[in-house]
Amino acid sequence: MRLDRFIASQKAELSRSDVKELCRKGQVTVNGETVRRPDVQINESGDEVRVSGEAVGYREHIYIMLNKPKGVVCATRDGLSQTVLELIPPELRRRGLFPAGRLDKDTEGFVLITDDGALAHKMLSPKSHVPKTYLVGTAYPVTEELVPAFAVGLAIDGGETCLPAQLTLSEDPFRCTLTIHEGKFHQVKRMFEAVGNRVTSLKRISIGRLALDENLPLGGCLEILHKDVEKLLSC
Ligand code: URA
Repeated sequence: MRLDRFIASQKAELSRSDVKELCRKGQVTVNGETVRRPDVQINESGDEVRVSGEAVGYREHIYIMLNKPKGVVCATRDGLSQTVLELIPPELRRRGLFPAGRLDKDTEGFVLITDDGALAHKMLSPKSHVPKTYLVGTAYPVTEELVPAFAVGLAIDGGETCLPAQLTLSEDPFRCTLTIHEGKFHQVKRMFEAVGNRVTSLKRISIGRLALDENLPLGGCLEILHKDVEKLLSC
C-alpha cells in the first residue's frame, strides 16, 4: 500500500495531503528511516511507520463499544440531534465508521460502531439470531406468567410473531431483563405493549456474548479487543 494512503486510512484526523506535507517536513519514518516521498510502497503489516515519532499500528477494521446515552441518534448524520459518531474520540475515529444496528433515541446502552461492513451484516442478519439483552423498566409490574408467553414467541402488532425470547424477572417487579434474537423495529417496546404493559426505560447490556463494560460511563467508548470481536456473533 502507498505510504500516504496507509497513514490516512489509520488516522482519521489526517488527510492524504496532510500526510504528504508531513513527509515533506521529514516527520514520517518507515523502519526508522525518514521517508519524504509519500508514494513509496510499504508493507502495512510488517513495516514500522511513525508520524512525528508516534507509531501507526495497522488494524484493518476497528470495533468500538459505545454506551449510548438517551437523546443521541444511531445515524452517521442528523441535522438536529447529536449522533453516536460524534461521541467517538479523535484517536478512535476513522473513515467509514457507522453504527451496526440501531437503538431508539430514548434507549441507552451498547452500540457497536465499526467500519467492518461484513461483520455488521452477519451480526444484523435475521438468520444469525445473535442475542441482544436489554434491561427493561416498565409502567406496570411484570409477573411470572409472562415468562412462558415470551418464551413461545409473542404475537405483536402488525401480525408479526417474534422468535422465542427469554424474560427474567428481578426483585423489583417494574424491572426485568429480556433477551431477543432478532431486531424488529421498536421490538422490545412492541412486545411489552402486546402484553398490556409499557416500556419506561430501556438499556441494551449485551450483544452476542459480549457484555457492556460496567465501568463505561454513558457517552463513553472503548475499543473492543480483536480477540473479543467474535463474541459479538456468538449465540
Ligand atoms: N427495542 C426497542 O423497542 N427499542 C430499542 O431501542 C431496541 C430494541
